[in-house]
Amino acid sequence: MQTLTVDLADRSYPIHVGQNVLTRTDLLLPHLKRKQVAVVTNTTVEPLYLEKFSAPLRDAGVTVLPIVLPDGEQYKNAETLNKIYDALLTHRCERNTTLIALGGGVIGDMTGYAAATFLRGVPFIQVPTTLLSQVDSSVGGKTGINHPLGKNMIGAFYQPQVVLADTETLNTLPDRELSAGLAEIIKYGLIRDLAFFEWLESNMPRLVAREPVALAYAIYRSCENKAEVVAADERESGERALLNLGHTFGHAIENGMGYGVWLHGEGVAAGTMLAAEMSCRLGWMSAADVERTERLFKAANLPTVAPDLGVDTYLDLMGLDKKVSDGRIRLILLQGIGKAIMTGDYPQDVLRATLARV
Ligand code: NAD
Ligand code: GLY
Repeated sequence: MQTLTVDLADRSYPIHVGQNVLTRTDLLLPHLKRKQVAVVTNTTVEPLYLEKFSAPLRDAGVTVLPIVLPDGEQYKNAETLNKIYDALLTHRCERNTTLIALGGGVIGDMTGYAAATFLRGVPFIQVPTTLLSQVDSSVGGKTGINHPLGKNMIGAFYQPQVVLADTETLNTLPDRELSAGLAEIIKYGLIRDLAFFEWLESNMPRLVAREPVALAYAIYRSCENKAEVVAADERESGERALLNLGHTFGHAIENGMGYGVWLHGEGVAAGTMLAAEMSCRLGWMSAADVERTERLFKAANLPTVAPDLGVDTYLDLMGLDKKVSDGRIRLILLQGIGKAIMTGDYPQDVLRATLARV
């Protein structure tokens, strides 16, 4: 097991990465204020890991309330969130009850938001079980739900007490979901870590083959990158926005295609290719680096061509992005591999021309 810390003064917390950390009550119990937890999961993860996770806790005298939600991005909404509140209130949960997210990013984001808002805030623990949630969504405290008009539009910054990323859980993950997680891993290389990008170029076949040592390194290195960015800019007033590379385009793809049709990581991959192509049009990124980026996404079995939604639909959907400022869509673009910037200062026709290609 390896441990790193997200350094946020009195809200700092550890991330434990390794095999079977799911059952390590010694890593979890010190963070409970009361021996009562609500474990939020979904119908897919429940049969795989709920009992494995809950049994050692019960053995340690902890009361465990399971809350099992329907599975899917299309359920990341106010209606499903309400089911969490319903269960917590029905079972008389208190301010010292800890909410634990056991699942992927959808469960993590919704549970975190429930924890931020239930009784104006209760303790929260992340037990991410997808590659994407282990390298990205469980770290950094962004929580929330989708609104019919836009993705992740309702939410709060709310940090967990601890993150337990059990690499063993990845063995049951479908290939497509593994690839979706690889998109966010590639993202760290592109925005700030050229050496990691080069490591990924050499090691992508090992990651796709789920080699445990390679996966553990990629998860740890990704969490290190994310922890550094979050520690420097928790509330996204600057550098943290760079973590959204490909996301403005990607969210438009997810929303435009209907939530759940394109996976988040797939939208990020195709969206990042649009960002790279636009950066190339602006003369900031070489065609060779765009091709390198495309090769790496392809090696991870990710889509590199965005769906044809039409330029105006893209612009409409992208206009709902949280980074819009004074009505201008701000984008994360690349100045080569390993260096990203956020800008709203680009010719509109370059954005339109980039979108017209899809
Ligand atoms: P997900 O939560 O939908 O999980 C993907 C699928 O895998 C689901 O069907 C899930 O039930 C299943 N699953 C989970 N663990 C499994 C396991 N071990 N074995 C088999 N199946 C398993 O999707 P995701 O990719 O984990 O997360 C995507 C979500 O995360 C999006 O809603 C996105 O907006 C959000 N996100 C948030 C942040 C953040 O900073 N908060 C960052 C990135 C993404
Ligand atoms: N996934 C982007 C962020 O956490 O800021």
